[in-house]
Amino acid sequence: MAFIIAVAQQKGGAGKSTLAANIAVALAQNGQKVVLLDTDPQQSLQRWHALRPATAAPLGFEAPSGWRLTGAVDRHKRSADFIVLDTPPHADTDARIAVRAADLVLIPVQPSLPDLWAAEGTVALAEAEKTPYRFVLNRLPATGRLRDVVMDELKRRKAPVSPHTLGNRSAFAAAFALGLGVTESAARSPAAEEVRALASSLRPGKAQ
Ligand SMILES: Nc1ncnc2c1ncn2[C@@H]1O[C@H](COP(=O)(O)OP(=O)(O)O)[C@@H](O)[C@H]1O
Ligand SMILES: [Mg+2]
Repeated sequence: MAFIIAVAQQKGGAGKSTLAANIAVALAQNGQKVVLLDTDPQQSLQRWHALRPATAAPLGFEAPSGWRLTGAVDRHKRSADFIVLDTPPHADTDARIAVRAADLVLIPVQPSLPDLWAAEGTVALAEAEKTPYRFVLNRLPATGRLRDVVMDELKRRKAPVSPHTLGNRSAFAAAFALGLGVTESAARSPAAEEVRALASSLRPGKAQ
């Protein structure tokens, strides 16, 4: 039975599609059978997927519109090891369907308080749907006051935070433009190391 991961966050530009594509690729490279579902009407992952070269890691892919998502998940959950759901911004119906279907919600946040505030709707959604969630700090500077402010705020809220963070790295956009994940286009880069560490932490039973 597939482990289903939804990447959700109300704020556009937080890194949802980047995170979804990169963890899907890293899991696929690791020999897992992965299906990536793009539920965002903007379909950036559909366009990304269309660019994937034939030599890229094998990845199941569909772009079901909101209400078709449950059917797509049901079709794949017996045969896939992982189903990764990219979701639209706004905590609307489509995001709710994805969060409901998921075993774990990853919430990318960039190190700024407005980004953290914007995630509150997604946290409320995950709690309402009783789906475990984890923040993933994205574009995190290695040091600095902003990093400390955001870390402290998450600690104060006792929020579940992945120990695996992603730095602000140009490799992500470069890989995306080729239809690849960073673990394919720049396998030895710090970005790839970070993605592999995050992806290998995503396992059933480690959801809480
Ligand atoms: N860790 C990162 N380092 C550098 N650029 C990033 C990173 N994560 C995302 N980006 C860039 O930020 C922009 C928005 O990311 P995207 O994944 O499309 O966000 P969302 O899907 O939440 O709207 C893209 O241009 C992407 O390349
Ligand atoms: Mg997106």
